[in-house]
Parts: sequence; structure tokens; C-alpha cells
Amino acid sequence: MPEQEFSNPFRPGAGHMPPYLAGREHEIMEFEQLLRQTTILRNLVLTGLRGVGKTVLLEKLKPIAIREQWCWVGADLSESTSVDDETIAHRLLTDLSLVTSSLVVGRQEVSGIGFVPQRTFIDTKLNYETLVALFRQTPGLVADKLKAVLEFVWLALRRQNAKGIIFSYDEAQNLSNRPKKEQYPLSLLLDVFQSIQRKDIPFMLALTGLPTLFPKLVEARTFAERMFRVVVLHRLSEPAARDAICKPIENANCPIKLYDESVELIISDSGRYPYFIQFICRDVFDTFLQKMDDGEKPSVPTDEIIRKLDADFFAGRWAKATDRQRDLLAVIATLDNCDEEFTVQEVVERSREHSPKPFSSSHVNQMLLALCNNGLIYKNRHGRYSFAVPLFGQFILRHMRDASQAD
Ligand SMILES: Nc1ncnc2c1ncn2[C@@H]1O[C@H](COP(=O)(O)OP(=O)(O)O)[C@@H](O)[C@H]1O
Ligand SMILES: [Mg+2]
Repeated sequence: MPEQEFSNPFRPGAGHMPPYLAGREHEIMEFEQLLRQTTILRNLVLTGLRGVGKTVLLEKLKPIAIREQWCWVGADLSESTSVDDETIAHRLLTDLSLVTSSLVVGRQEVSGIGFVPQRTFIDTKLNYETLVALFRQTPGLVADKLKAVLEFVWLALRRQNAKGIIFSYDEAQNLSNRPKKEQYPLSLLLDVFQSIQRKDIPFMLALTGLPTLFPKLVEARTFAERMFRVVVLHRLSEPAARDAICKPIENANCPIKLYDESVELIISDSGRYPYFIQFICRDVFDTFLQKMDDGEKPSVPTDEIIRKLDADFFAGRWAKATDRQRDLLAVIATLDNCDEEFTVQEVVERSREHSPKPFSSSHVNQMLLALCNNGLIYKNRHGRYSFAVPLFGQFILRHMRDASQAD
């Protein structure tokens, strides 16, 4: 029997479902608890750094909700930085129509044509056109119109024994109020859901986004603080990281085998961050195949892989910073806690010790703000800062070392 081809199973790439989604049992349990609510008091925020696995976890939650008889609608808001009130409303109607369009909400008799009078009926379905018509007919502000449509949808849907609807929005940190344009789509979304949830309509938000998301929601509406269960995704635990590496190749047809020392190396090089695990494993798989074909004993080519990661993942982000910003980032990278959180004060003190041209505290403040705006750093709710890119500190140190060697 011909051997079945076993191709490289690893999937480094935004939103690409991994061959084995490791860990996350706790997060899934949290979601299952939210599904048990009859009156929705808490909605879901799934947050964490880029590449930590938010999108694929959201994708994994979908069948769980559907199995529990919830409907699931949603979209990716990556391109939604400039939406206004009307567009967010239409976004919701468009997404909703996918689950409601087969529901019949009315029937109209049309008279027959010809000599024999025939009774013919046309069903009114809750498709996009009907939803929009309903939206337009309702007097008042966009929020009033939207609430009316959502209430109507629930009347129709509850007859189908649905538990409710999950509205899932990925990259939701892109939604913003824009006071200058008098557009408040974020506040609108929160107002509408809070209001219908008070009326016992089981429509739940599941938002995912970068760590800026939750502070942004609270800034838009203080009640958002109580409205969401915030689930923070971290890097994987050690056993989960091991599973993410080993499970995909535990197959009789798999041509490569990883020894414990290789697995340990991958765990430490990846920092247990899901994207890095997929990236390194994909490379290791190909390299091992190649070396085995050449009759060599394969080992994990750590240096080459790190170099490739630097070029593919970090360099583009580093390129966004100006020279002076890079000086500051280099100071931050020398802090022991740079991969967790740091304060302006810590950065100022370190720069006095290390930098030929130290930074003043107002200067650090200002520059961190600029770095937040170009997505390299973020500020959390307690006024502390973190790198927005996992393992960025180590990259910077490597980069500085290489640069000083080149001099
Ligand atoms: N739990 C996990 N186990 C293994 N790989 C994962 C896991 N979560 C995410 N990944 C992988 O990590 C990468 C980034 O996932 P993604 O969901 O796009 O992250 P985010 O949306 O947080 O930026 C993808 O290649 C994905 O296959
Ligand atoms: Mg994502």
C-alpha cells in the first residue's frame, strides 16, 4: 500500500487554525459559563497580544455555542477604524440576516390570475431587506432603530427554540468613537446591547482584540466595566506548549520524530507563544525532513530560526520606530521586567544609568504615547506599559548586539 503523504501540519499565520489547539481549557470553560446565563449580565472580551491565539479561539468557541443551541453571527473588524453609527448598525443587520433570512414573519395573499381564482401566498422572510425596512420605519435615533429591529428578531427567533445569539467581533479594538465627526459607534454598540439585555433578550457580545480593547470600551461607557467578563490570553503553559508541538506529529505516517531535547529547545525559543511555536515547528519540520534525506542527525537550528523570525516578524515592526524611539526601546529592553510591565519612572532611571543621552520623564511619557500610536507599546488600565509584540525585548537586545558587533 502506498504510504500516505504527511505534509507539514504547522500553520504560522494570523487566524490559521493550528493542527492542534493546545491549552485554553480554562478560557473555554469561562465561555461555557457565559452561555449558561439566561439573563445576559456579562458579555465576553477575549484579549491578548498579537499572535497569542484570539482569532482561532473565537473560531473554536463557535461550534460550542451552536451545540448549545445558540446562533452565532459576526465579522472581522480589521478594516473598521472609521465606521460611523449608520455603518455599525448596517454591519449588525448584515450579520444578523445570515441567521434570520429563512425565518418567515408574515404572509401575504396575492390574487390569482386567469379564470380560475387561485389563492397564492407570498411569505415575508426576515432577510436583509426586511431588516433594513424595519430599521428605516422605526422613528428615532440609530440606537432606537437598532433596538427595535433586535427586539423584533428575538420575537421571531425564540419560536425556533434558539437560546439566543452571539455577536462575535474580531479585532474590535478598531472600533472608535469619533467626537469630531459626532460619530459614536462604540458607545452605540454598548448602549444597544445593554438596553436589550435589560429587556431579557439573550443577545451576547463576544469581542476580541488587542489589550487596548477593554480600556477603550470602558472609556466609551463606564458601565462596560461591569458588562464584560475579560478573558486574557497569555502564552501557553508548559504542558500545553508541549502538546502544541508534539500532538500534530503523533501519527504513524509522520516522517519526523522530535526528541525531548528538541522539544525543550522549541519551548524555550518560542517563549511558549502560539504564533512562534507554529513558526518554529514549521521550519523544524522542513529542516528535519531535509537533513534526514541527507542522512544527517537532525537538530533544531535555533540560530537560523531566530534569524528568520527576526526578519519575518520583528524587523517590520522595528522599522516603524524612529532612531530616537529605538534608543528608548533599547533602554526598555534592558529592564528585567520588560516582557511584563514597566513604568515611566523605571525607564527614566534606567536611561540615566545606561544612556549617554538620558531621557527626561516628560520626554519618556511623550515618546511612549507615540509608540502606543504606532502599535509597538500599549498602556494598560493601571497606567503601566508593555511591549505590544511578544518577545520584543529579546529581539531588541539581539539587534543591538548585532549592531554593535558590526561597528
Ligand atoms: N492554542 C493554540 N495552540 C497552538 N497553536 C495556536 C494556538 N492558538 C493560536 N495558535 C497559532 O498561533 C497563531 C496566531 O493565532 P491567532 O489566532 O491568529 O492570534 P491572534 O488573533 O491573537 O493574533 C496561528 O498560527 C495559530 O495557528
Ligand atoms: Mg487575530
